[in-house]
Amino acid sequence: MKTNWLVTILMAIAMLVWLVGCEGPEGPAGAQGDQGEQGDPGDPVAQYTYLGDDASTCGHCHGDVVETWSETGHSHAWDSLDPEDQANLYCVQCHTTGFDAEVAYGDTVVVTPGPDVHGFDDYYPPVTAEDEMRAGMLENVQCEACHGSMGPTIYDHEPIVNFNTGLVDDMDPSMCSKCHEQVEEWQESGHGMVFEHHGFVDQEEFDDEWNRSSCGACHTGEGFIGDNDPNFPDPWYPEDAHLIGCQTCHDPHDDTNPHQLRNVDDYTVLYDAEEAATFTGYGGAQTCVQCHHARRNTDNVVGQIENGYAHFGPHGSPQMDMFVGSGSYEIEGYEYEREHSHQMFDMLDDNESCVTCHMEMRDHGDPLGWKGGHDFEPTPATCSACHVVPDDFDYHGEPSDLVALADQLITAIGVDPEYLGNTDSTTVEQRMAGYAYVFFMNDGSNGIHNPEYARSLLENALDFIETANAAGNGAIVQK
Ligand code: HEC
Ligand code: HEC
Ligand code: HEC
Ligand code: HEC
Ligand code: HEC
Ligand code: HEC
Ligand code: HEC
Ligand code: HEC
Ligand code: HEC
Repeated sequence: MKTNWLVTILMAIAMLVWLVGCEGPEGPAGAQGDQGEQGDPGDPVAQYTYLGDDASTCGHCHGDVVETWSETGHSHAWDSLDPEDQANLYCVQCHTTGFDAEVAYGDTVVVTPGPDVHGFDDYYPPVTAEDEMRAGMLENVQCEACHGSMGPTIYDHEPIVNFNTGLVDDMDPSMCSKCHEQVEEWQESGHGMVFEHHGFVDQEEFDDEWNRSSCGACHTGEGFIGDNDPNFPDPWYPEDAHLIGCQTCHDPHDDTNPHQLRNVDDYTVLYDAEEAATFTGYGGAQTCVQCHHARRNTDNVVGQIENGYAHFGPHGSPQMDMFVGSGSYEIEGYEYEREHSHQMFDMLDDNESCVTCHMEMRDHGDPLGWKGGHDFEPTPATCSACHVVPDDFDYHGEPSDLVALADQLITAIGVDPEYLGNTDSTTVEQRMAGYAYVFFMNDGSNGIHNPEYARSLLENALDFIETANAAGNGAIVQK
């Protein structure tokens, strides 16, 4: 309620300023004059649902957004089409604004459903001079392609803003699904299947679990956006938060980073053992590690070993740490292997770590071609770009020899993994060895992320606990 008031007042002021005309910080006066012969400033194209020419229509008040959007592919999607494709209705439907008909490959006629909404299809192919002018104003993926039509006058300004990726329902659809096929793959991914994987029956359960301080930044779209975009509150826990979706990882109007990714910063392992490695130089994968890292710093890890901890081990997400080969608790006096070929840059033109294996390039078919899979699942084809697929590779399948080693370790520790952090059930020695076990299990790759580091973690811990057991060093055997 409070924000609605504020928006109304701001709108009123903005409208007034616009009517009077201004030379504000956001753009030169009369920018809307670019709309051609459409009448006076303040009365732009009043009769249309889709206003079009949004760089001017919206730029007067949102000049900063227009400026960054102008650098994105969306702003020149029309020019990406060859002239003959600009005459192909199938192609133009996604490279323009307000196209409300669905055109299948090979169709030559548009049948506009429902009332005329003044989108691109309503003027194409152009017959009259007005058609020509209107079609020109609706080329490219403009603001209204995502935020919805804002006519007949900008005074009705009711932009759609949502964080849905799945096809939620007709009232609140994803802003991207109309044109981007990645939505289908995303729905099958771990990011898209959270409700199914955790058995949540409704939104409330999801919000209770993750839409709160210290969880939201990695578990909800809004949490991550709030953390990364100065236009939104940080931290941000609005009601009914969303899953990690398109507009979480991608910034809809900023192409500063490759593929409009929001955050591709370097990330350094938080547990500062012998060396705290930094994950750097892996392109799009820099986005993944903003969330997929171990979360526990040195004090926390040392505290867990000394005093126990209810959520023993790293958080369920130590994939970055495993990949770079540091970040698990390391036992003094042992050597740890950190380097593995999967870290190297020069094997492929472009080794993007997580992205290379989890976003396999696939042919999505004519005309969209090859692009990264958004189900985030590795397949044998990914591995065979570099080497023969290991016999034991089966995504979510057969355990590797490292899994056998992990089983051996937990048997030697002799404690149910659930009770590893409980000081009534474990000695310091059991916790020292147990950390490696939980780290390996929570990584979830069966060691494939860094077989060398995984092996040395497990072997060292096994040697340590067997020596302690042999010396009778107080292992508590669980009842
Ligand atoms: C006359 C000034 C003006 C014009 C023209 C204008 N807006 Fe806005 N817009 C505002 C104000 C004021 C707000 C509320 C404060 C804010 O979020 O910046 C706003 C908010 C928004 C929001 C955020 C809404 C939310 O729920 O957070 C979006 C999206 C938006 N405008 C899109 C557009 C688009 C797209 C156009 C062009 C079709 C446009 N605006 C034209 C003044 C304007
Ligand atoms: C269903 C919507 C849709 C249709 C239909 C469509 N495109 Fe696209 N096109 C896209 C999207 C979305 C992208 C962005 C790339 C991506 O998704 O990976 C794109 C990207 C492209 C690009 C690459 C632009 C660049 O510079 O990166 C070209 C070229 C292109 N399309 C041409 C065509 C042609 C030619 C047709 C018709 C034969 C067509 N498109 C039909 C949605 C569509
Ligand atoms: C590809 C879809 C898309 C396009 C095109 C697009 N937006 Fe947005 N816009 C979004 C989404 C999603 C959000 C919320 C997330 C965010 O801001 O990063 C948003 C947020 C906004 C906001 C509020 C918060 C902020 O980031 O400032 C404004 C204002 C806005 N858009 C204006 C515009 C204007 C003006 C244009 C055209 C120049 C435009 N948008 C083009 C999808 C889009
Ligand atoms: C630094 C980012 C980050 C933060 C902060 C975070 N998580 Fe997570 N969490 C993840 C990632 C990434 C995964 C997915 C790992 C996987 O599936 O392998 C995950 C997985 C989980 C799981 C599934 C565990 C499993 O192993 O399957 C639970 C439960 C969970 N998180 C709870 C929480 C709670 C509760 C909070 C807040 C107290 C929280 N998380 C904060 C990143 C984070
Ligand atoms: C978990 C983060 C994440 C989510 C969620 C996500 N993407 Fe991506 N997307 C990426 C990364 C990383 C890349 C870059 C891949 C690379 O470097 O090759 C990418 C690439 C792309 C590309 C460029 C095409 C290409 O060649 O791969 C498009 C288009 C795209 N994403 C659209 C979407 C859409 C639409 C959605 C929602 C269905 C979505 N993304 C959800 C992370 C994400
Ligand atoms: C009206 C159709 C349409 C809508 C809606 C749309 N896109 Fe796009 N998108 C395209 C087209 C077409 C391109 C290719 C532009 C070009 O020619 O480069 C594209 C390109 C992109 C790219 C750049 C891909 C690259 O290779 O770098 C990203 C990222 C992207 N879109 C994300 C989104 C997200 C996120 C949303 C929803 C918030 C969205 N788009 C909504 C049609 C659309
Ligand atoms: C904004 C935080 C965030 C980002 C960025 C992110 N993820 Fe995730 N990812 C998560 C969370 C949280 C989960 C766990 C979902 C759940 O609760 O089931 C997850 C789950 C997964 C899963 C499925 C795990 C399982 O147990 O089924 C894979 C695989 C994955 N992510 C890979 C990636 C890759 C690859 C990238 C980069 C392209 C990436 N993620 C970027 C937060 C993120
Ligand atoms: C060399 C290829 C490769 C690289 C590089 C890679 N992964 Fe994996 N990852 C895998 C494989 C293979 C599995 C699954 C192993 C299995 O199920 O047998 C996996 C498992 C996972 C899982 C757990 C999935 C589940 O279902 O529990 C997550 C989350 C994940 N990886 C994220 C990442 C992140 C984040 C990065 C970058 C730091 C990364 N991966 C780098 C191949 C790779
Ligand atoms: C960028 C190239 C590249 C990709 C992609 C790749 N690998 Fe590797 N991998 C290597 C290299 C190089 C080695 C070390 C030489 C060797 O053992 O063949 C290696 C070694 C391995 C090892 C042996 C570890 C050991 O030391 O015993 C396993 C297991 C493995 N990779 C699994 C996978 C799986 C599973 C995938 C696909 C999900 C994959 N790799 C994808 C380059 C790659």
